[in-house]
Amino acid sequence: MGLIEVKPRSFVYLLQPKPVAIIVSIDSSGKPNGMSAAWLTPTSRDPPLLAVAISPKRYTYELIKQSKDFTVNILDASMVDESELFGSYSGRSVDKFKKSKLTLARSRIVKSPYIAEAVTALECTLYNDYPGGDHQLIIGKVEKAYVREEALEEDTYNIAKVKILLYLGNGKYTTTLDKQVT
Ligand SMILES: Cc1cc2nc3c(=O)[nH]c(=O)nc-3n(C[C@H](O)[C@H](O)[C@H](O)COP(=O)(O)O)c2cc1C
Repeated sequence: MGLIEVKPRSFVYLLQPKPVAIIVSIDSSGKPNGMSAAWLTPTSRDPPLLAVAISPKRYTYELIKQSKDFTVNILDASMVDESELFGSYSGRSVDKFKKSKLTLARSRIVKSPYIAEAVTALECTLYNDYPGGDHQLIIGKVEKAYVREEALEEDTYNIAKVKILLYLGNGKYTTTLDKQVT
C-alpha cells in the first residue's frame, strides 16, 4: 500500500466530500436565484463568519456584489436533483426556482430569502470579498441561523435523524452514516 501521485489541480476532490449548500441571492428587482456550492467553510466564530469560494463568472457572484447579502441553505440526501439543477444552469438564462420543488421563506434580517425545506439556513451579509485564484472568497457574516429541530443534538447534527447531502465532485454524491464513528 502506498500513495499515488495525482495532478495538483485534482487536489480539490481530495478535500471532499463536503456538504452541499444552495446559495440564494436576489437581483435588483428582488427576484431570487440559487446556485449549488460545496466550497464552503467557517472562518470565525466571533464574529460568526464563513467563506464560500464563488467563481466571478457565476451570476450569483454578480448578485451578491450588488445586493450585499445571501443565504446559505444546506441540503439533505433527498435533494440530489435540486443540487444538480441549481449547479448546472445559470440564473442569467434560467429561472431555477420556477423549475424547482423547493420553496422560499422570507428572511428576518437580509433581503435574500432562504429555502424552507433546507436542513440548515443561514442569513448572511457580505462582510468581505478576497481574490482566491479562479474563485473569489466571499466572506459572509452569519446574522441568523436556523436548523430543523429534529436534526440537532447538543449543537451538532443528529446523524441518526438527518442525512446531509455530501458532494464528492464530478457529479458524484454521498451522505452521512447512520451512526457516529465515536
Ligand atoms: C454540487 C455542486 C457544487 C458546486 N460548488 C460550487 C462552488 O463551491 N463554487 C462555485 O463557484 N461553483 C460551484 N458549483 C457550480 C455552480 O453551482 C454552477 O456554475 C451554477 O450553474 C452557477 O449558477 P449561477 O450562474 O446562477 O450563479 C457547484 C456545482 C455543483 C453541482
